[in-house]
Amino acid sequence: MSDTSRGDPSPPYYCQRCPRLFTFLNECRDNLPGHFNGPVETFGDADAELLIVGLAPGVNGANRTGRPFTGDYAGDLLYKALAAHGFSNDNYDKRIDDGLALRRAAITNAVRCVPPQNKPIAAEINTCREFLKSQIASMPKLKVLLCLGKISHDSTVRALGGKVSRDKFGHGSEYALGGYTVLSSYHCSRYNTNTRRLTEAMFFDVFARAEELVG
Ligand code: URA
Repeated sequence: MSDTSRGDPSPPYYCQRCPRLFTFLNECRDNLPGHFNGPVETFGDADAELLIVGLAPGVNGANRTGRPFTGDYAGDLLYKALAAHGFSNDNYDKRIDDGLALRRAAITNAVRCVPPQNKPIAAEINTCREFLKSQIASMPKLKVLLCLGKISHDSTVRALGGKVSRDKFGHGSEYALGGYTVLSSYHCSRYNTNTRRLTEAMFFDVFARAEELVG
């Protein structure tokens, strides 16, 4: 969604705001030359009413393909849920040329660059929030933010002027903040689904609520 007419909210390909992530991405550029290896842009409908906020690209998933959750284990459940709730044309096939189109929805990440061990540090989350804020500001029809996991939830709450001590993360938690609804779910990661902390039914229930809120 690099719609420059509204001001492009994406970091540049060689973003250097986070020294550790810049170094790690440079290592990826050397060691994984076929991968995208840059900050992954928001994907979806420019007029989206629903914005999914993930954590960060996986090294061999979104960081490889250049599209959020694409090729990541977590993408299988996320794209299935989006299709089941009418937010896509159901063409997900783990490739950026699979013909997938989102409807009334878009996907971004709290941290745009792949972090070592999938774990961004606080300074990186805080720094990348600038892009989350401008992403939100660039979406004229946005109503609902669906945060996947606590890091995404906390960063989104802060981006919208909320307080994480008051607006606490929980699976299915819902807050009105800054004129939007912030809805949250456990992240659809391999760990959470394998341990059944998050089942498909639980995830679909949150999407059903998002669909209801979007109207
Ligand atoms: N891939 C992403 O793009 N984001 C996540 O949160 C997980 C995998």
